[in-house]
Amino acid sequence: MTIFKRFIRPALFSLEAEKSHNLVIRLLKSNLVPAVKAIDDPILSSVVFGRQFQNPIGLAAGFDKNAAAISNLYRLGFGFIEVGTVTPRPQSGNPKPRLFRLSEDDAIINSLGFNSEGLEVFRTRLKIYKENSVDSIVGANIGKNKDTIDAASDYVTGVRLVAEFADYIVVNISSPNTPGLRDLQKKSNLQHLLGAVLEERAKAIRQPPIVLKFSPDLDDQEVKEIAETASQFNINGLIATNTTIERRGSLKSPNKEMEGGLSGRPLMDSATAVLRLLYRYTGGQIPIIGGGGVFSGEDAYCKIRSGASLVQIYTAFIYKGPYAAIEINSALSSLLKKDGFQNISDAVGVDVPL
Ligand SMILES: Cc1cc2nc3c(=O)[nH]c(=O)nc-3n(C[C@H](O)[C@H](O)[C@H](O)COP(=O)(O)O)c2cc1C
Repeated sequence: MTIFKRFIRPALFSLEAEKSHNLVIRLLKSNLVPAVKAIDDPILSSVVFGRQFQNPIGLAAGFDKNAAAISNLYRLGFGFIEVGTVTPRPQSGNPKPRLFRLSEDDAIINSLGFNSEGLEVFRTRLKIYKENSVDSIVGANIGKNKDTIDAASDYVTGVRLVAEFADYIVVNISSPNTPGLRDLQKKSNLQHLLGAVLEERAKAIRQPPIVLKFSPDLDDQEVKEIAETASQFNINGLIATNTTIERRGSLKSPNKEMEGGLSGRPLMDSATAVLRLLYRYTGGQIPIIGGGGVFSGEDAYCKIRSGASLVQIYTAFIYKGPYAAIEINSALSSLLKKDGFQNISDAVGVDVPL
């Protein structure tokens, strides 16, 4: 058993979940979490969005919402880090408590509601980080303030302020904790939003890839419409998926009744189902980042074979600690080799008939 599981996790889990999260962010911000040696294996390295990713395992949005700890996080062996969701103006999010561990299920429920220090602080931190680390890949995940009526205007502000420094921009329209947000996934709303976002990007000096992040709670027809719209607008990437409001299966934890988005192991199947549909309906033409329930190399391999070019984790990082990315990468590399693949990109989508 690792030191993390034996000593550090019990200490952190003895605190209320959000307090423990804030403590970890403070430690990371001060660069106090020891770096791990990243896996340097050519089989894991591939080009996505025109950029070379050293490995496919990224940290998903919501862990470092305010871009406060990118430097230390990057040194934990991730191939890329996604920061945010950031809202244009600072906002405190929903009332506490709003973050719950479901330890018996390897899951988390959160109803944070985009607590954010706002774009100004976020942009300054991202700028400083990127000026000193040109080779790193950092995505900026943008959202809207709760009280903004014209949602598109908030995303336009987000694009305007982060385009210069983000390696990709995620338009997050799938968090379940901001009223009305997920309605932006509906075809006509999505068309309007994408028109505005792409127009803003066209004005920017740097024009990073635009990536859309979706919910796992979409039916087949909805996924099809989204895939068609994303293709029509030449969207550069998709993320499948965010957290779920469904409570499928048999959750064991007493916290299972809490309101909010469920992440972690119980999300794996529904998130992968949406990933497969997106891959199929886009004909494998738009790179997809697969997330939701990835805990092991097998899980990551499953996402890749189901159409993901890259993979993200959040909940596994909470339960497995600082070695999560290297553990997953190392197992993934063995699985790819066992099946005779020369490179990870050759395995993308092999299980999805087009
Ligand atoms: C506490 C918490 C906060 C999150 N905040 C965000 C967020 O701000 N923006 C976002 O796009 N996703 C957010 N997510 C969703 C994750 O990025 C990820 O899509 C989801 O948790 C599924 O991955 P996982 O099963 O590996 O955790 C959050 C997840 C958790 C657990």
